[in-house]
This record gives sequence, C-alpha cells and structure tokens, in this order.
Amino acid sequence: MNTSAHSTPLSSNRHLLRWVEKMAALCQPETIHWVDGSQEEYDALCAQMVASGTAIKLNEKHWPGCHYVRSDPSDVARVEDRTFICSLSKDAAGPTNNWVNPFEMRKKLKSLFAGCMRGRTMYVLPYSMGPIGSPMSQLGVELTDSPYVVTNMRIMARIGLPVFKEIDKEEKRVVPCMHTVGAPLAPGQKDVPWPCNKEKYIVHFPETREIWSYGSGYGGNALLGKKCFALRIASNMARDEGWMAEHMLILGVEDPHGEKTYVAAAFPSACGKTNFAMLIPPTHFKRQGWKIWTVGDDIAWIKPDANGRLRAINPEAGFFGVAPGTSQSTNPNAMAALAKNTIFTNVALTPDGGVWWEGMGTQPAECLDWQGKHWTPEIALQTGAKAAHPNARFTAPASQCPTIDPAWEDPEGVPISAIIFGGRRATTMPLIYQAFNWSGGVYMGATMGSEMTAAAAGTIGKVRRDPMAMLPFCGYHMGDYFRHWLKMQRTLSETPRVFNVNWFRKDEKGQFIWPGFGDNMRILKWIVERSRGRTAAKETPIGWQPHYEDIDWTGLDFSKEQFEQLQEVDRAAWRREVIGHEELFLDLHDHLPPEMIYERELLICRL
Ligand code: GTP
Ligand code: SPV
Ligand code: MN
Repeated sequence: MNTSAHSTPLSSNRHLLRWVEKMAALCQPETIHWVDGSQEEYDALCAQMVASGTAIKLNEKHWPGCHYVRSDPSDVARVEDRTFICSLSKDAAGPTNNWVNPFEMRKKLKSLFAGCMRGRTMYVLPYSMGPIGSPMSQLGVELTDSPYVVTNMRIMARIGLPVFKEIDKEEKRVVPCMHTVGAPLAPGQKDVPWPCNKEKYIVHFPETREIWSYGSGYGGNALLGKKCFALRIASNMARDEGWMAEHMLILGVEDPHGEKTYVAAAFPSACGKTNFAMLIPPTHFKRQGWKIWTVGDDIAWIKPDANGRLRAINPEAGFFGVAPGTSQSTNPNAMAALAKNTIFTNVALTPDGGVWWEGMGTQPAECLDWQGKHWTPEIALQTGAKAAHPNARFTAPASQCPTIDPAWEDPEGVPISAIIFGGRRATTMPLIYQAFNWSGGVYMGATMGSEMTAAAAGTIGKVRRDPMAMLPFCGYHMGDYFRHWLKMQRTLSETPRVFNVNWFRKDEKGQFIWPGFGDNMRILKWIVERSRGRTAAKETPIGWQPHYEDIDWTGLDFSKEQFEQLQEVDRAAWRREVIGHEELFLDLHDHLPPEMIYERELLICRL
C-alpha cells in the first residue's frame, strides 16, 4: 500500500502530483493512499469499514461478497439546495441552478477544507468515466477521506492503476474532484459509523472543470464521477464540444429476426430508468424471440459519429439503484445483478445476515430497519415505519446483470434510434405519444414535468418541471441547454425519433391504470416500429399516438376503453399544462430559443 505523495504510481504527470501535494497540505490527512483498484485493496477497505462499524458483512452463503451500510439519517439523498454551479457569471448558471460568486465560494471552500481530513486517510482515486481508452471517455481524480466512496466507486467506475497509466499518457486532461465528509478526528477521538457534517456543499466550477464536495458521504453528493462529473461538468464539456451528456438509460431491443434497435430514455430520479433498462418482455414476446439488452441505467454520453448518426456510451460501470420496489417479479435482472459483490445502503438487515426492503417479497417476521431499530410487520402497521429508507440503494457491478448488452463496453458506443422522455404524472399525460419532429421533441423534453420523489431531499409528490430529467443536473443555463439540443440536429444525417411515456397515470381511486414493468415492452415495441417507419399512428393535438390495434396485447387483458382512458388528451387539462410550460419559460426567457415559443404557439393552436 502506497502511503505518501512520494510513492505515487504516476510517472510523468507532474502537474497532477503537485495538485495532490497541495491538496494534502490543505486537508492535512494523516496518510495518503494511492488507490490501485485491486480486489485485495477492495477487500481490505471493506474489512476496515467492518472493523470501524461503518459496514456489516452479510451472510456469505446467501449474499457472497456483499456489505451492508447505514448512513446518517441526515445524509440519505442528494441535497439540491446545497448544490451549486459557480460559473464566472450568474447568468451562465441560469435561474434553475444555485449560484454563488466563484471567488467567494473558493474562499469558503478553502476555509472548510483546511484540516478537514485530520486523523483520516486521503485516498487518491483515479477513475475513467467510460471504458478506459474510449474516445468518448473522460478522466477524473477524486481525493476523498471516505473508504465508502472508494469501494462504491470501484463498482460504479473504472478505477485504479490502469487509469493512472492513462492519466500519464501525454498528461491527459483530468477533472480534479475534492471530497470530504467534513468530520476531522482529534488525536485519539473515536470515529462514528457514518461521519458527515450538518453543513453541506456540492460545488461545481464549470469553466475550470472542478468539483468540490463537503459534508456528505452519500450517493450523488459523494461519488463524484456520477452526477457531478458525468452530468453537471460533462454537460458543459458536451456543449463546448458538440455532444450530449444526459440523465438517460440506454437499452437495445432485439426483434425475432435478430435486428437490434437502441433507444435512450430520460426519466427523472426514481421514475423507472433502472427498471426499464432491465425490462423482461412478457411471455408471448419472449416466445416470439424479442430480447431486451441493457447498456446503462442512469447516464448516457451521446455523440454524432463520422456518418452523422448519434452513438451513446454508458460512462458508468455499475448500478446505484433504488432498492425499494425491486423484486424477483418486478426486476429479476436487477435482483441477479445485486445477488453478489454488492453494497447495500439504508435497506433493512434480517436476523440471518441478509437484506430486505419494501416490495422485495415476503416480509421478514422481524429485522433491523435502516436506522438500526427493531422492526416488525406489526410495528409497521401501527406506526407506518418503513424498514428501508425510500431512497435506499444497491451498488452492483453492471457486468453481473444477465441482460448486459455484449456491446456495453464498445468504445465507439451504440447507435441511438429513438429518445424517450417520461415523468411520473397521475393525470394529464398519456401513456405514449410521439413528437411530430425534432424541435417538437425538444419542446416535449423541455416541458417535461414529474412528481417529486425521495431521490432528493424535498417535498414528495408535487409536480415540478424537470426538463429532460436534467433539472438538478444541467451544469449551465437551461435555455442554452435547449438551444444546444436544437443545434445538435444540424450535425445529424439521421435524427432519432422522440417519444413521451407515462407509466404512472392513475384512476379516480388513485390506482395506477397501467401495469407497467414488463408490459412496457408493448409500448417499446411500437416505439421501435415507429422509429423504423413500420407501423401506423394517428395524429392528435400533442403528437402521434398508436391506435388500440397498433399495440400487441397478447397475454394482457387490457380493453380498448382502458387504453383510451390512458391515452386521453383532455383539452382542459392540457391548457393548464401549457400554463405550467409558460411558467418555466418565463424563468428562462432571456435565453430561451425562439423555437420553444413557436412550438408552444402551435400546440396552443392545435388544442
Ligand atoms: P434513479 O436511480 O434515482 O435515477 O431512479 P430510476 O429512474 O432508475 O428509477 P427506478 O427504476 O429505480 O424506479 C423507481 C421506482 O419506480 C421504483 O419504486 C419502481 O418500483 C417504480 N417503477 C419503475 N417502473 C415502473 C412502472 O413501469 N410502473 C410503476 N407503477 N412503477 C414503476
Ligand atoms: C438520482 O438521484 O438520479 C440517482 C441517485 O441516480 S444519485 O446518485 O444519488 O444521484
Ligand atoms: Mn439517476
């Protein structure tokens, strides 16, 4: 184990080495550990977390290689109100981002980070977002004092010695990422299982491509390759360089003739990306030979190739998936992926050293809940206490997913034929419709709304505009982001078709009308056929919709009346919807591309 700045595995990138030394001088860690990414190192870090009380090793027979972690109840989700885009001007960040003057913020961070790692180890964690060496990949180095972050990042990204090697090549560009839990230890002071700080700062400097994260050890706040780099910083790189960094899953649909069609889909946090990416077709489709292949479940980097076709890579190597609701019946692929070598955070711990969460299946007679308290089904009935936190997560290697696409690590990416948007909407939004064209599709994505979920701290259930599912993740002005989307079409010879789905429409009794999950295949099949120009549709005020007869209903008892209830375009509700669009546009007005106004006017005329 390398424990000083002098024993760096870097051979030629002196610039990076000087930065590590400078940051070590600022944070004053007890030791420096250069992460090599090996299995031995991972095992040692897990053992260390078990010894310190941060992690519990699960029953090796049933959960081989798995660990269980409880975070602090104040540190269970992304903190959007503590997330900052510190561009040189406030205008560049736009009204949907929190902005602080970068000079002030740097001063603040410097004081927060001074001595912040005292008594701890500083891990120098090199990572590649995307397969190492792919022309679409990007490199980062995260300095962190959290072994939880290092172990999770080993699953979520490519890390370690091969990345140091890459960084040394012609001194490649690297995004510097600073992370601390913000809980220095006095000499002899005993650590708590989940150190963190009440004060939290998740800060991005878009121009200098830097990330500084203080006070949280959780998920997107701390695994800096994910939302901070692969979306907030990468969206800036993408705008400057002519590509797209999106909050999208990527999947491949293989038809009975073996023809493959890839689609990318943007749904907001906790709105079904992981489930859709791992969809298992209904029996009838399987018998016919339809197959779904998973490329990614959260983030897509999309770039036009030399022929003007969009190609996408999944920059991640693992799934940081929502546990509650995941089961053998809803998502057997996720269950297989998380069966071994997985880290569980904030789920429940069963007496036999296993894990459980709401929606997994048979309730245990008793367990310890995500806060370590005794939980039984009776207690739950009386108090409503949840065994698992609603945003409890599993961190699982993508390679363990049975449907992982053979091309998921292709350095050139996979070709994208369709883009799908979708939010969580109890009313108004139909199950499926297709935009008339690209600018209509951009309008569709730009005006997306969704009910808020537990993935971020805040009010759950309220509808908010979440353009392209990127509201918390776009690292610059949202109006300029729409402009970038519109502009992308000019570089394309083949434009993907654009669709909107809503799995979450409810009836008067508050029940979901659509069965969802595997049955989403029926809708996906129509999307693929539309993208290939092989099926019919009818024109409606908002776009193209399938006729009842255009969908394959074999094996599902779903009447024409039910379908029409789901597909209804209620003109009164849509007028209210358009006013919601206008509210967002007012905020963005001085950067809003004129196409968005024209699309809105056309929509109003048709309604
Ligand atoms: P992030 O990881 O936060 O970005 O979330 P995600 O978009 O990957 O969402 P995920 O697939 O984890 O689903 C979140 C919740 O939605 C889970 O509770 C699922 O059970 C539920 N869900 C997913 N797909 C469907 C569906 O088709 N119908 C219904 N009713 N619920 C669904
Ligand atoms: C999301 O919230 O969209 C996630 C989880 O995928 S986190 O990594 O915490 O952002
Ligand atoms: Mn996500």
